[in-house]
Amino acid sequence: EQLRHMLQAMPKAELHIHIEGSLEPELIFELAQRNGVSLPYASVEALRQAYAFTDLQSFLDIYYAGASVLLTEQDFYDMTMAYLRRAAADNVRHAEIFFDPQTHTARGVPFQTVVDGIWRACQDGPISATLIMCFLRHLSEEEAIATLEEALPFRDKIIGVGLDSSEVGHPPEKFARVFERARNLGLHLVAHAGEEGPPAYIESALDVLNVERIDHGVRCLEDAELTARLVREQMALTVCPLSNIKLRVFDVMGDSNLRRLLDEGLAATVNSDDPAYFGGYINDNYLAAFDALPLDASHARRLAKNSFAAAFLEPERKRAWL
Ligand code: ADE
Ligand code: ZN
Repeated sequence: EQLRHMLQAMPKAELHIHIEGSLEPELIFELAQRNGVSLPYASVEALRQAYAFTDLQSFLDIYYAGASVLLTEQDFYDMTMAYLRRAAADNVRHAEIFFDPQTHTARGVPFQTVVDGIWRACQDGPISATLIMCFLRHLSEEEAIATLEEALPFRDKIIGVGLDSSEVGHPPEKFARVFERARNLGLHLVAHAGEEGPPAYIESALDVLNVERIDHGVRCLEDAELTARLVREQMALTVCPLSNIKLRVFDVMGDSNLRRLLDEGLAATVNSDDPAYFGGYINDNYLAAFDALPLDASHARRLAKNSFAAAFLEPERKRAWL
């Protein structure tokens, strides 16, 4: 009980949250109605019932369908503000928020509508928040480069780029040139790797893309040499416990390797990924992991400390929270 209170109350940073994955079924229905979009689900309950995933792709299909109700700048603002308020209630002090512009520009929503709506909410919201633009790895590198070019007028609203969507069959090296360009623009670099994909994808995210954090990365333990390197470099891993269960990376929370990652000395953090789809926000992730695994107050402190240490923030800003 004391540990649960500590997990909820401790200041934390969230480094792996897809803003489109914070879109709750209730808001999906509200936006569909507001925008005259018809949904293939009769009710909020029917939509929630469809949230039974067998792997990453089965989730992504529903997640992209959910995002189709987002049309106006106000829609993006409302979605982002709802997340920021919810995160503040979990004592998140700082969030680095992923967004997927290609999901929206492919439907004819202007890039500016997406970034302005999300960014304005970050300015108005109750916590510190910055934006990381993700490229969809199932699309081509040419399309990613075009997206980076579309982002140039909004360079000051974006702190970094990431890589998400279907991992297997789309290795990091497919995006070598666009990450090189982003690096030359002074953007921070992250990539999903080692969620469903093999340890080799973590290695190429580091060596080819030059990323500064690995999103998920839980499969690193299959490679002892890679694990030793990640420890040596204190490379942050943004672990998402509930996501890993819902997408069947692990069968049950008791099989999560979070405790082993910490025991190895890896810079693991706890995050929510797509909270509206995976059954909980960041504190639900902490609580579920600590309920199922032999983790104590010292692990809680480590995880919170790791989250601020890995954040793309000035050291002076972090110190207040550490
Ligand atoms: N997009 C949203 N959530 C994702 C995840 N967990 N992995 C890859 N792409 C995603
Ligand atoms: Zn993710």
